[in-house]
Amino acid sequence: YQACVILSNTCLHASYSTDVRPIKKPSLTALRRGTGGRSSFNGVVATVFGASGFLGRYVCNRLGKTGSQVIVPYRGDHYDVLRLKLVGDLGQVLFLPYHLKDDTSIRKALKYSNVVINLVGRDWETKNFTFTDVHIDGARRLARLAREAGVEKFIHPLILSKGSQCLISKYWGEQAVREEFPDAVIFKPGVIYGQEDRFLRKITRDNVFRSYTYLWRRQLRALPLWRKGEETIKQPVYVADVAAAIMSAVKDPDSAGKTYQAVGPKRYQLSELADWFYRIMRRADKQGYFRYDMRWDPSYLLRIKMSERLLPGWPLGALSAEGLEMEHTTDQLLDGVPTLEDLGVILTTMESQVPWELKPYKAGMYYDEELGEFEEPAPPKEALLL
Ligand SMILES: NC(=O)c1ccc[n+]([C@@H]2O[C@H](COP(=O)([O-])OP(=O)(O)OC[C@H]3O[C@@H](n4cnc5c(N)ncnc54)[C@H](OP(=O)(O)O)[C@@H]3O)[C@@H](O)[C@H]2O)c1
Repeated sequence: YQACVILSNTCLHASYSTDVRPIKKPSLTALRRGTGGRSSFNGVVATVFGASGFLGRYVCNRLGKTGSQVIVPYRGDHYDVLRLKLVGDLGQVLFLPYHLKDDTSIRKALKYSNVVINLVGRDWETKNFTFTDVHIDGARRLARLAREAGVEKFIHPLILSKGSQCLISKYWGEQAVREEFPDAVIFKPGVIYGQEDRFLRKITRDNVFRSYTYLWRRQLRALPLWRKGEETIKQPVYVADVAAAIMSAVKDPDSAGKTYQAVGPKRYQLSELADWFYRIMRRADKQGYFRYDMRWDPSYLLRIKMSERLLPGWPLGALSAEGLEMEHTTDQLLDGVPTLEDLGVILTTMESQVPWELKPYKAGMYYDEELGEFEEPAPPKEALLL
């Protein structure tokens, strides 16, 4: 008889999948499920503006990898962003057309998000968008609408150095974001390198048949640099480190309202880096590579003007006066500002990463070399802290 009572009680109180199970705390974090990985949901719904860019692809991959849902607002052709579909499982990555000056489409893109990452930026002005439109008004609009929508975290990368018009507009963009979203997390990266960057590949790539645009950056075998690159100090940071730091900032509640400078572990003269890249590519000696001061080459300055005039929307080889000015601006570190290491990122050294990045551009790429046949390229010398 007792066994019958226990059995009937169990059956009465059992809950079946058809039962309604109200969520007591209807927050996104309460909906977490899965054990991690691209098919799980970790409670983060992130809208990534500027996801189609260089850094955007890494950030979206990191988000998807840890089970975040990613909203990708895009402009132009949807095929440009379609490959981001693979960063998460089915239904985890959603695309939405938007316009940077249109409040309604932006509101729609961040309506259900608790994290917004603004990676929108451009190194040159176009017919439709000035630096002010993109870096100040656009950033302000995104920050204001994110705050109005109740977004918990707004992440905004800027640029470390100051100087050119683009960098000045980035500075005012920071003020605008801080006014609209005081708790925004701001990153100030130095130059970022990695696959598809605009630093390593702009300086080094020289396969005429693969891409004429990079030949446009150079003067045949010579590399024009401002004051031969000897007065510019760079502290390049690896793109995956910046993406990892952005992920840590998303998760870390202490990051709210902070500014981080995103730089690599070492500082180098630009001239040292350029020479090293060409040594790695085995083009330094045999192919007659040399650097010269671009200030004394009027034909090169004319080329920059032509490049901007011919294709103002996307200058040939991304060669613009603004871009070159940024390339030759020293990365100035700020005292007392936390770095990526404060977010728990172990920084990648250029010595360990760059040889791999430049491998496809080596002279005699398919040559089956003997062990020790070629001398190991000497690493670049570190610069004194300037
Ligand atoms: N790469 C670096 O070395 C570096 C260093 C320091 C800071 N940063 C900053 O980090 C952020 C991301 O850099 P990134 O290298 O990934 O840049 P990127 O490759 O040039 O990508 C920029 C993104 O912004 C979007 N965008 C540009 N103008 C826009 C407009 N008017 N309306 C809507 N979208 C627009 C682009 O969309 P489309 O694809 O549609 O053009 C693209 O998705 C930028 O703010 C940049 O200034 C970069």
